[in-house]
Amino acid sequence: MDKIIAYTRVSKSIIELLEQSYDVIYFQNYEQLDDPLFKKELQDAVGIIGLELKVNQKLLQHAPNLKIVSNVSAGYDNLDLDAITKAGILATNTPNVLTDTVADAMVGLMLATSRRIPELHQFVQQGKWKEYLQTEYFGVDMHHKKVGIIGLGGIGEAIAKRCHFGFDMDILYHKRSRDLAVEQKYDARFCSLEDLLKESDFIVLMVPATKETEKMISTEQFKLMKKSAIFINGSRGINVDEEALYKAIIHQEILAAGLDVFDQEPIDMDNPLLHLPNVVTTPHIGAATIENELAMSTLAMKNLTTGLQGKKPPNLLNEKVWDFYEK
Ligand code: DGY
Repeated sequence: MDKIIAYTRVSKSIIELLEQSYDVIYFQNYEQLDDPLFKKELQDAVGIIGLELKVNQKLLQHAPNLKIVSNVSAGYDNLDLDAITKAGILATNTPNVLTDTVADAMVGLMLATSRRIPELHQFVQQGKWKEYLQTEYFGVDMHHKKVGIIGLGGIGEAIAKRCHFGFDMDILYHKRSRDLAVEQKYDARFCSLEDLLKESDFIVLMVPATKETEKMISTEQFKLMKKSAIFINGSRGINVDEEALYKAIIHQEILAAGLDVFDQEPIDMDNPLLHLPNVVTTPHIGAATIENELAMSTLAMKNLTTGLQGKKPPNLLNEKVWDFYEK
């Protein structure tokens, strides 16, 4: 049987299905990916499937037989596509299936930060019921406010839909080009990044991580925001200057932040953002629900097995390799 390496988040049932046709070696923890054993197993693997592994030339040196890298995520900033393509290896991701799940999580972070849910939960646990009656512990409304979405792809649109229909919010958006259909559906207004930052009550960052987006939200951008603004990052940590965010929060230049992603993951426990009551964090789990985990793993398995059968995977990222296969 051909060997497949699975790592980190792949549904158990999908691993079991793969085991019917392949010799599957599973590395469950991130730490194991640095283990020499992982590199040893890579030597004769034909396919790899999992989340967040940095696949670059350095890693590919250990994988001379690899035919396909199946990423169990929509984002693929962990893949060095040039190096993978150069090595003649197919690369795939899992777009679309996660859209509603991630949008739900971002709305969850908007509510958690604005209504201070984690903080108040601790109050209740600590018997501080009476303190909550003092207005200084009140949160702020989300409904009828203005949300600015930076990067209006599928997930951004699903957030706009929830905010418009569910919370009667005004929608501002910023992306490379206007999307007239979205404007019509959600009464959304296209605007410059600067105007969006100045006008929004909630700012939600949903852009992919590229060289152009690195630290796109930094001191200058936080200074443009309202003092009452709530900043949400559901994209990638690298897109935000975390030190600038920390300063913006402690100097009360913005009200709060909800973060699902961080510059370093898993987050360093010394990261000062973890010690601020008005910063709500989740461990990069926007896409991780029981249902969606299975949907993403199923799609990743389809990509993997289709590629290994010599057919074009549904979510191929490097067409160039396929063109070469076809010739
Ligand atoms: C994605 O699919 O890109 C999610 O952020 C999980 O990494």
